[in-house]
Amino acid sequence: MAELEFPAGFLWGTATAAHQVEGGNSNSDWWAWELRPGTPCKEPSGAGIDHYNRYGRDAEMLAGLGFNTYRFSVEWARIEPREGVFDEVQLEHYRRMVAAVRNCKLVPMVTLNHFTLPIWVAKQGGWLAEATPALFERYVRRTVEALDDAVDWYCTINEPGVVAYGGYMGALGFPPGTHGVANWKRAAMGLIEGHRRARATVKELRPGARVGQTHSMQEWESNAGGRPAMEYARRMGEDIYLEASKEDDFVGVQTYTRARLDLPRPIGWLTKAALAVDPIEKLVVSQTVGRQTGGDPTVDARDGIRRTQMGYEFRPQAVAATVRRAAELLPDKPIVVTEHGIATADDGERIEFITEGLKALHAVLGEGIPVRGYIHWSAFDNFEWALGYAMQFGLIAVDRATQERTPKPSARFLGAIARANYLGVTDPT
Ligand code: BGC
Repeated sequence: MAELEFPAGFLWGTATAAHQVEGGNSNSDWWAWELRPGTPCKEPSGAGIDHYNRYGRDAEMLAGLGFNTYRFSVEWARIEPREGVFDEVQLEHYRRMVAAVRNCKLVPMVTLNHFTLPIWVAKQGGWLAEATPALFERYVRRTVEALDDAVDWYCTINEPGVVAYGGYMGALGFPPGTHGVANWKRAAMGLIEGHRRARATVKELRPGARVGQTHSMQEWESNAGGRPAMEYARRMGEDIYLEASKEDDFVGVQTYTRARLDLPRPIGWLTKAALAVDPIEKLVVSQTVGRQTGGDPTVDARDGIRRTQMGYEFRPQAVAATVRRAAELLPDKPIVVTEHGIATADDGERIEFITEGLKALHAVLGEGIPVRGYIHWSAFDNFEWALGYAMQFGLIAVDRATQERTPKPSARFLGAIARANYLGVTDPT
């Protein structure tokens, strides 16, 4: 392998999630959450970027830029708008979408659940309810049957750790907005069971398809004092889900930044689950979420750290640390970077982020870790959950008044790398 070359057959892609781009996902818990007074949502998702109708031209644009893979999600809230009622029109819609993606010579990677639930599932308690994993399994069965043999890569549940922590621990302003460690753990168990059932169902119906789960992972650092708390946060946020991926065909790693947890002295009792209550909640929340300011991408005067629009540390190389950790916990498991990206108004900064991230990833490949692909978040500027449309993660800009798409230099830059399967492409124009 030449110095900056990637392995043959490497997946080069971009990602989106239905609720963030489709528009009009009015049967979902997120839609209701965005409109409910008192939630932290900055604005409603509304018409999105109309990807529901424009997916064909969008896929053509992505293929034209040089990518070979497109990761997107199908929407449970559309497919099963009422309990047990499956909407054939919506199933046909996603069948056509998959066909359009394939026609453009893009490999479709389909996420079966990306954060949103149908309102009727949410009303029953969402991932806290005992029945939800079985209901999810039934939806997965109908969807995978409908998509037939057109999809070879499935992601079951996107970032279960973020769903449990963000919505049930109440840390990221996600629905249902419950609080506390008990809910956090209960939701985690439901999500893990949902994944297990979804994986078994896909394998039963499509033994040849590759099934995995996509994990939110951070590069973690701490001083000696913060280490027990850091390990606790990492275990609860990442490891328990990675362990549930032991039987998967691949593991999806999604990384945006590095998190630091420094404390003046070790708090040994933090590691004891029985005592893992509010102090940890407050600690973890202040360390991670407190930074999610949605502020300006400047060097933070408080600590001298360069930050992105999300308030995250600018740390593209974090992806190498997380891929190494995934490989350590799941040796020999094929790994796909299913998300990596930056929210910034400065597209030159995005190019820098991609370059540094890919260099670090290339080094990981050199260590023999089986990385199979790199999928950038995101194809388009889109709806960033509670933070709304102000966050600019896209390789492609969208004028939401006209829905006109304009590829940014970073789109051409990464597309050229994808086409060449080689990192030494430098001219983004
Ligand atoms: C999620 C995406 C989100 C992205 C950027 C990931 O946590 O899968 O839905 O937009 O990060 O914050």
